[in-house]
Amino acid sequence: MIIQKTSSPRLPNFDPNNFSFGNTFTDHMVICEYENGKWGEVKVVPYGPLSFTPAMMTLNYGQACFEGMKAYKDKDDNVFLFRVDKNFSRINKSAQRLAMPQLTEEIFVEGLKAFVDVDRGWVPHGEGMSLYLRPLIFATEEALKARISEKYMFAIVASPAKSYYSEPVAVKISDYYSRAASGGVGFSKAAGNYGASFYPTQLAKEEGYDQIIWTDDATHTKFEESGTMNVFVRINDTIYTPATSDKILDGVTRDSFIQLAKRRGIEVVIGDILVDDVLKAHADGSLKEVWGVGTAVVTNTFKAIGYKGQRFELPLLSEEESYALTLKRDLLNIQTNLAEDPFGWRWPVERKY
Ligand code: COI
Repeated sequence: MIIQKTSSPRLPNFDPNNFSFGNTFTDHMVICEYENGKWGEVKVVPYGPLSFTPAMMTLNYGQACFEGMKAYKDKDDNVFLFRVDKNFSRINKSAQRLAMPQLTEEIFVEGLKAFVDVDRGWVPHGEGMSLYLRPLIFATEEALKARISEKYMFAIVASPAKSYYSEPVAVKISDYYSRAASGGVGFSKAAGNYGASFYPTQLAKEEGYDQIIWTDDATHTKFEESGTMNVFVRINDTIYTPATSDKILDGVTRDSFIQLAKRRGIEVVIGDILVDDVLKAHADGSLKEVWGVGTAVVTNTFKAIGYKGQRFELPLLSEEESYALTLKRDLLNIQTNLAEDPFGWRWPVERKY
């Protein structure tokens, strides 16, 4: 591991009360290059631009995938990561599907810990505050033949975050566009999954919706995901979420919500959610909540769902009544060391560098 600290830190000018998520970056980043069949040394270096030409293979063929993670700070300035093992195994699944090389634990986990240690001053304090971490792997070979790249870069950048999408949103159930197909890359965090979702989302926005509920590509009758999140539906007092598959991301927040709900004795059904059943439940008043979960946003509650030109308003429940908000609170309390961690999800970041 090589640690090269910046001589001109921007941290003293960072105002934790005034920043926008995703546009402010910390003082450092991780880089590690792959060539001749092996990864080189992990480096924590000053944050800044890299130099590539338009012939870089990622730009032409899209061999790129990423992760979303967060670091949290408790009131005593201890810094924690969350369920790092899940992101480590998932980035390798994404990489495998995109024919990219596997990362070792030394590169992913140790690189991440060293980076967060060096930039720990950037982890903001306070409710819902965190440092969003974006590990990514992308093809760097300069070549135009449509084949597997022989060179890659693993990098991690970080951006301070408040809870994003905090307002309840209106979502449109897709009856045409698809996010994923059987045998495809929907389960992975392939960069192209996100790029391909922007146009349908833009069309939904023109109709007054914020996001799309993605449905199965074959029939458009079953919920799969929502926006960039996994989706949950509550009918009466039971929670439903689709099973993971080759079309659905195995979300860390999704899995955490399921475990937290079960701990509270809430019934969780993992399986198909039919659009028809959701609309019927809306009609008879048993549809209580629909929400999305993901690392960046944690929980996004939905205020309305649209389907084939009709808009259905949803009740907005108080924090006490809402399973979505109750489970979000349970999760944040564990992440920020305000509650016991019976699952062993917190990963303390030691002071080393
Ligand atoms: C995450 O929740 O980490 C995501 O992947 C959403 C991101 C595209 C902003």
